[in-house]
Amino acid sequence: MKNAVITGANRGIGLSIVREFANNGVNVWACARRESEGFEDELRRLSKHAGVIAEPVYFDITDRAAAKSSVMSVYKKGGSIDILINNAGISDESLFLMTSLDQLETVFHVNFFSPLYVTQLVARYMVRKRQGCIINIASVSGIENERGRIAYGSSKAALIFAGKTLSMELGQYGIRVNTVCPGFIDTDLWAERPGELKEKILAETPLGRQGTPEEIAKAVWFLASDAASYITGSNLIIDGGRLA
Ligand SMILES: NC(=O)c1ccc[n+]([C@@H]2O[C@H](COP(=O)([O-])OP(=O)(O)OC[C@H]3O[C@@H](n4cnc5c(N)ncnc54)[C@H](OP(=O)(O)O)[C@@H]3O)[C@@H](O)[C@H]2O)c1
Repeated sequence: MKNAVITGANRGIGLSIVREFANNGVNVWACARRESEGFEDELRRLSKHAGVIAEPVYFDITDRAAAKSSVMSVYKKGGSIDILINNAGISDESLFLMTSLDQLETVFHVNFFSPLYVTQLVARYMVRKRQGCIINIASVSGIENERGRIAYGSSKAALIFAGKTLSMELGQYGIRVNTVCPGFIDTDLWAERPGELKEKILAETPLGRQGTPEEIAKAVWFLASDAASYITGSNLIIDGGRLA
């Protein structure tokens, strides 16, 4: 059975990915930064229903020592790490002149440096096995320019760029690296954004509705599955057609 490490797994898109992967027979190591009974109950239910390991792993992804020991403990318990989904992320909405360097650094630490660090830790195990799959959850904000998205958009653009570089460097070890760019998806992250922006985005979206976390999870599962065995270095935009 394959083992998948999924960050930001306690809610939103990450939790949907956990459910999708478990229901497809993959052991899930669901990373979150805070312990929660509701989350653990959900993982127990999933484990029982799907017949897989579904275990919480607690660490803040910006804490390198904690990330390192958590990844090592998953490897020891699971015997391998076959799939890594870098999903944890934070949003940020402020104009460039109002954005402090500290704020930029915080966003980059969560959205860019930490996923790259976790990827380095996991990729070393994958290289030994000469197979693996890494999927970074970036954003359409890393592709289109938007006022007020200097920190978030730049961090996601950097993640998209890194995904392509990693696919070139790690392909020789049988490791596939792909990026998913969600658009307007119904999670807590969107709740913080201005109402008029949501209306504008909906009006520009050919499918005329917001996407669901489950729709992102199904696409992520496709990319992680053997059905996508020749796909690497790709960037899959899932936005109801808006960027088209
Ligand atoms: N929703 C959208 O429309 C949309 C669009 C494009 C891209 N995305 C991307 O999709 C991913 C998931 O977003 P979402 O909408 O599901 O957001 P969400 O509901 O706000 O969930 C974000 C997740 O990231 C975790 N996280 C944040 N900072 C962390 C840290 N320092 N250490 C560990 N975990 C941390 C959160 O944990 P806590 O619960 O502890 O805060 C939470 O599990 C993000 O990378 C986001 O940028 C979302």
